[in-house]
Amino acid sequence: MDQFVSPKKIYHGEGSLTKLEDILKDLKATKIFIITDPMLKSLGVIDPVLEILERQNALVELGENVVPEPPVKIGNQVVNEVRKIQPDLVIGIGGGSALDLAKAAAVLAGNDGRVEDYLNLSSTKKLLNKGLPKVLIPSTAGTGAEVTDIAVFSLENTKDVITHEYLLADYAIVDPTLTYTLPPKVTAASGIDALTHAIEAYTSVNASPLTESLALDAMKRIVENIRTAVWNGNDKHAREQMALGSLIAGLSFYNAGVAGVHALAYPLGGLFKLSHGESNAILLSYVYDQVWMACIDKMKNVAKAFSLPINEKSDREIAQQVVRSLQDLIKDVGLPTTLRAYNIQSKDIENLTKNGVKQKRLLNRSPKTLDENSIKQIYTNAYEGVLQNS
Ligand SMILES: [Fe+2]
Repeated sequence: MDQFVSPKKIYHGEGSLTKLEDILKDLKATKIFIITDPMLKSLGVIDPVLEILERQNALVELGENVVPEPPVKIGNQVVNEVRKIQPDLVIGIGGGSALDLAKAAAVLAGNDGRVEDYLNLSSTKKLLNKGLPKVLIPSTAGTGAEVTDIAVFSLENTKDVITHEYLLADYAIVDPTLTYTLPPKVTAASGIDALTHAIEAYTSVNASPLTESLALDAMKRIVENIRTAVWNGNDKHAREQMALGSLIAGLSFYNAGVAGVHALAYPLGGLFKLSHGESNAILLSYVYDQVWMACIDKMKNVAKAFSLPINEKSDREIAQQVVRSLQDLIKDVGLPTTLRAYNIQSKDIENLTKNGVKQKRLLNRSPKTLDENSIKQIYTNAYEGVLQNS
């Protein structure tokens, strides 16, 4: 038996932002707290949202404490702001960090305690109340955070999450118009994150027929459009397909889970402050270079979704081709594929491995067991830029 969970309502497509008016009326919300990245505000990205709220005469408070890969301390600051203001709706607009903070703050506003009391690795409390209603509006095509119940926080050396069904959005709005002005590097990093969600969900040991079909659909949309979206950001079709691909990948990975790539990416963010998307981009090909033999049948379908030639090739050759094509794709969108490129030294591999091993929640979903030795091998290969088995 499988189950599938998603937010109550998802609006998507060009112009879907206007649905915010209906949401405000449905919820009878008049006092709104917006959690967003200050950079987005200064670039005018959130202006369309502010205009809608103004038309509805809503009282708006802006929380601009958002920083990339937010540490627990920032989480607590945002929670305190929301508790103090007591809005009747929280809106998160931005990349994964803004959306995660909005989820955590809306829920914790209705519960006691601090962020660290509810983290997966160190929790001492259980969430008892759903907290405030929340609308999540992504401004990147990548994280899928608008449809998951996970909020990620940075710790000293790694990351940890609060995860609970209460963190799910009441409404998600995925409007590609918000992504039109994203610079190439952000488009690339968030797009590779979305692709990683789709591939890891597809090969997850918890995959179901529903999550598998969504994952394959997402891969196809992303692989066909990411290069254009990165290098020709004005191409509306590519932007729309990336937004949709990211949303679909989000729905898939929320239910099937991500695995080894995300597990080993977390210490790169924690120890070296690499962005989530860049961390995944480095590791994606090296992790699949180690695990394809455990999901060789599925790799054939991945190859089809990628439109790779598979005629007269053995299953083995097809899987190896997928791994190499992942690395080519990441290079095509201008992202580095080695740890060296970020000045990470070979002596750091031990610490990365020590922290990577801790991510059992994610590692348990890998199609092939990733023990300490294989994790160390993956980081070593990622340092040297070597695909061992492909
Ligand atoms: Fe991710």
